[in-house]
Amino acid sequence: MTRPLTTRDVDTRELMDDPDADARMLARTYGRFGFVNALVSRPGSLYRRDVRPRAAHAREQSRALRILDVGAGGGDLCRLLAWRLRRDGFDAEVTALDADVRAIRWASAHDRGAGIRYRRALTTELVAAGEIYDMVLSNHVLHHLDDAELRTVLDDSVRLVAPGGMVSHRDIARSRTAHALFSAATWTISSTLLADSFIREDGLISIRRSYTTAELRAIAPPGWVVRGSVPSRLELRWVGAHART
Ligand SMILES: C[S@@+](CC[C@H](N)C(=O)[O-])C[C@H]1O[C@@H](n2cnc3c(N)ncnc32)[C@H](O)[C@@H]1O
Repeated sequence: MTRPLTTRDVDTRELMDDPDADARMLARTYGRFGFVNALVSRPGSLYRRDVRPRAAHAREQSRALRILDVGAGGGDLCRLLAWRLRRDGFDAEVTALDADVRAIRWASAHDRGAGIRYRRALTTELVAAGEIYDMVLSNHVLHHLDDAELRTVLDDSVRLVAPGGMVSHRDIARSRTAHALFSAATWTISSTLLADSFIREDGLISIRRSYTTAELRAIAPPGWVVRGSVPSRLELRWVGAHART
């Protein structure tokens, strides 16, 4: 039975997270993330508001900007950031991290000269290795995590970020409107652009699994703030002691 959207549906897993998921459909799903993100994730605003100013700051210090993309999936967002930074003359070291080796294999095979470092690992392993970044980012990952995983990813994010750095975890905000709009928008292209992928079904599950801004505010540890934005988006942003907002 489908739960109403008033509570998070953490019991239904995305099809892409199934270890036995059809490999061809999974590959097409990774390949279509760029299209979905261009429509809903506003990567340009992330670049202009957060990435470019920090790249300029890093350049003043004669060093490259270090970015970690947690749960990079097909890698389209970090590739876009890497390309824009290069276009604007900035040096950057961009790492795409994913827990799923299938995502890392697909993304590294589709790097298209972006020069991203792809790693199959959990954030905890990077903390143990003493890695440090200026920016720790994620997109559409929070809703994949259970409570314990969320706490771990947030704690690790703070440990991984350099003094003056920032953490921004962006995701869908659950709402009836988001569900209805995504359902309607993807219905018309489900047998063409999105055919043979998990995008439509997993998108609808993702909205059901997502937090509302109020839910995330209630569980966010001290030092984190939650911002909502249109269209049905939220951002969990670390503004702790040494972060620059
Ligand atoms: C919906 S995809 C989002 C991909 C990409 N960030 C985007 O916006 O298109 C979520 C990704 O997060 C990965 N993931 C889930 N939990 C993770 C964790 N604890 N650490 C790293 N990656 C994780 C999954 O394997 C999957 O590739």
